[in-house]
Parts: sequence; C-alpha cells; structure tokens
Amino acid sequence: MIIHVKFLKMVKTVYIYTFGCQMNVHDSEKMLGVLQKEGYSQANDPLMADLIIFNTCSIRQKAEQKFYSELGRIKPYKKKKPDIKIAVAGCIAQHEGENIFKKAPYVDFIFGPQNIHILEGLTSGRTAPVAIKDNPEITIRDLPAKRSDGIKAWVTIMYGCNNFCSYCIVPFTRGRERSRPSENIYSEVKELAGKGYREITLLGQNVNSYSSDIDFPGLLKKLNGVGGIERIRFITSHPRDLSEELIDAVSGLSKVCEHIHLPMQSGSSNILRVMNRGYTYDDYIRKISSLRKKVPGISITSDIISGFPGETENDHLFTIKALKEIEFDGIFAFKFSPRPGTKAAEMQDHLKDEIKSERLSEILKVQDEITTRKNRLLEGTKQEILLEGYSKTDKEKLTGRTRTNKIVTIPKIDIEKGTLINVLITKGRQHSLEGRPVEK
Ligand code: SAH
Ligand code: SF4
Ligand code: F3S
Repeated sequence: MIIHVKFLKMVKTVYIYTFGCQMNVHDSEKMLGVLQKEGYSQANDPLMADLIIFNTCSIRQKAEQKFYSELGRIKPYKKKKPDIKIAVAGCIAQHEGENIFKKAPYVDFIFGPQNIHILEGLTSGRTAPVAIKDNPEITIRDLPAKRSDGIKAWVTIMYGCNNFCSYCIVPFTRGRERSRPSENIYSEVKELAGKGYREITLLGQNVNSYSSDIDFPGLLKKLNGVGGIERIRFITSHPRDLSEELIDAVSGLSKVCEHIHLPMQSGSSNILRVMNRGYTYDDYIRKISSLRKKVPGISITSDIISGFPGETENDHLFTIKALKEIEFDGIFAFKFSPRPGTKAAEMQDHLKDEIKSERLSEILKVQDEITTRKNRLLEGTKQEILLEGYSKTDKEKLTGRTRTNKIVTIPKIDIEKGTLINVLITKGRQHSLEGRPVEK
C-alpha cells in the first residue's frame, strides 16, 4: 500500500489549454510528447494537474481576452495549491514575454513557440522562467508529438512567416521562415503510416514558400509515395506564392486532396495593397480559374477581414462582389482587430466597431447562402469519405470527410474508423452533408 502511494506521487500530470490555430494544436501535441518523456501523464481536469500550460494565441484581441479570463480563473487554485506550476506558452508568451508576470505574478514560467524543447528540463528543474529566444540561424529541433487522433495527423513542414501582412502578428510571434529538411518530414510521415495513420495535413503559415532541399510541389511528390497514407492535405497557401507547378501537383498526385484554403482577405485591390498581400484581386481570380480548370471539383475556402483601416463602403462592396463571383465553398471571416506592433495598428482611419460588425454580418450572410447552395448541389452525388468516428452531436451516427474536406454524417454501420468508404449524399446543409454508404 505504501509503495502504491509513493508510485502515485511520482506520476506527475499536465493539463494544456490550447487556443488558436492548427499550428498551436499541434504544438500542444509536441508539448505532451516531450512531457511524456519527462514522466508526465495527461490530466482530464486542470484542477487535478501538477502543471497547467496555457498555449495561447494573439491573432485577434478576442483570442487574447479568452486566455486572460481562463488564466484568471486558475488564480484561486494556485493560492489553495501553491505547488501547481503554471506556464504560459504560444504566441502571447512570445509577444508579451515578462509582461505576463506583471499581469499575473502567479505564473511560474513562460516559453514561446520556438522554445517548446525547454520542457525537457522540467523534471531536473533546469527550466528558465522566460524562454522566448528566437535564433533564426537554427532550424527548430524536431520534437516527439503525442497525437490524440489515430487516423489524421498534423505534420509541421515549416516554421515562422516572412510576409508581414500589415495586420498580422504572426511574424512577430513565430519568427522567420524556416523549412524542415524533407528527409525529416518523410521519415515522420512514414512512421505515422506505420502506426496506422491514413491522412496527413502539412502545416506552415505559407506552405507554398517551403524551400529546403526540394520545393513544395517536390515535397508533395515525395510524400505521395508513402504507402499506407491515403490522403494528403496542406494549410495555409498564400495566393501570391501559389504556383502553376503546385496546381499541377494537386491535379496530378493521387493522394493530394482536392481542397485548398487560399485566404483572399479582401476583394478590393486597394485594400490588398495596404494589407501588403502582394497580389491584386485580378491576380487572385486568375489563380482561382487555373485551380478550377486543372483540378475539377476542387473546393476552395478562404479567410476574409472586414473593416480594415480605411476600407470604404466601395471596398467592402468589392469583397461582397468577389464572394458572389468566386463562390467559395466556405470562409472564415473576422472583424479587423488592431494588433500592437503591426503597421495596420498604427494606420489612421480605423473604422468604428459598428461598421466592422455590419460588414462582417453582410459578408457572412452572403457566404452562408452560397455555402448552403453549393452543398445542396452535392445531393445525389457519390463521394469517398474517410471515417473519423462517432458524430459529436449524435452517437447513432458516424462522420467522415470528403476529399474536398466537407463533413458527412452517415447512419451508424459496423465499419472501423480510418476506413475509406463511398457514400451517396442525401442532404446538403450549411455546415455539413448527410449521406449513406453505397458500393463503389
Ligand atoms: N498564414 C495564414 C493564416 C494566418 S492567421 C495566411 O496567411 O493566410 C488566420 C487568419 O486570421 C488570416 O488569414 C486573417 O484573415 C486573420 N487575421 C490575422 N490577423 C488579423 C487581425 N489583426 N484582425 C483580424 N483578422 C486577422
Ligand atoms: Fe500573417 Fe500574412 Fe504571415 Fe499569414 S502570411 S501568417 S496573414 S503575415
Ligand atoms: Fe494564433 Fe499564433 Fe496561430 S497568433 S493563429 S496561435 S500562429
């Protein structure tokens, strides 16, 4: 009995709050991977954990507020149980550094996205209170990831961003662009295939500018040859760097899925210029036409920002016109949020929140109608889906995604997750499709 108690005391637990993008979600998997080696297991409840990590996002003010309110909720527990260690990681940690201690003195240590490896020193007490160093000369080390899903995996192919879009904080939080050697990526994907993973999503802020021993289309070609992997996806593509070679690779490689997330941001070339995006609306449209010509049936999704400083009613109408002209399969749309340190935050003519909100609602309304209409058009078609497991809202149903990244729910059947099956689409809704299994 005594031995049992001692053993329990040795196993430390960690709880990670994750905010932000897929890159952060995958970084949390890496934190878990490193901590597992350090003897930590995952806690289901933050209040039972020895270590709580907040993996934060600073893309918009709202994301920051969400973090600070969660952090505040932990404060009383730290008082009751001072042994709990609290760490702040991710993009806010990188940008704010020591300032976080001023706002929340109960935080124990801070580390940025380029310093996840510092968790290796945790059990020996070697962890510095602030680790936000970014050394652009050094390629970020590969770290083991503990993934929660057994079918789909994220794989980092590059770190950082050099684009400095005038509104965006990412280049300040993730540092300069660095590409992982293709051999490392290839080995990781092979290992994943060996463990039964069927789908990989290659991650980078701007995957099109991947540049190592080979370029991005070359990397796709290399990974297309890994047996066991059935589907390859990638995010995010920058319209300026989307080359014909890449479009040809999406078209010609059997495992690369017919979906691209290609953030447009605005339909007004004037706004695109002040955003420092490096393309005009006409350039963007040309890329869309080429994608649709060379990859029939490709789904295209996008990001839009409403109410950028100086955006006139006319600029906004260009965005609305663009949405109607292009007919994206789906979009993420956001109100412009000024981020400290970025050029756009310093610009003059900021718009009132009311106007940003009005324009955002209009954008969403126009797009919702398009998304629903496009999904309805799929009724009666046959699609291949990769079964992912039970539906989150209905345990009598299973879900999977089409190659075009649309969610399909089907009645429960006796087939293992991770299997590719064919379904007939019976209903198209705004956010998902319904279907039933059919023969090939
Ligand atoms: N690297 C990707 C996405 C980065 S962030 C790309 O270049 O597309 C995801 C999205 O957040 C962006 O596409 C943009 O639409 C939005 N975003 C970034 N900064 C923002 C800000 N300050 N205010 C509002 N939306 C922002
Ligand atoms: Fe931000 Fe632009 Fe880089 Fe995307 S490409 S992360 S929007 S700076
Ligand atoms: Fe947020 Fe950082 Fe991702 S700011 S969107 S977590 S790169």
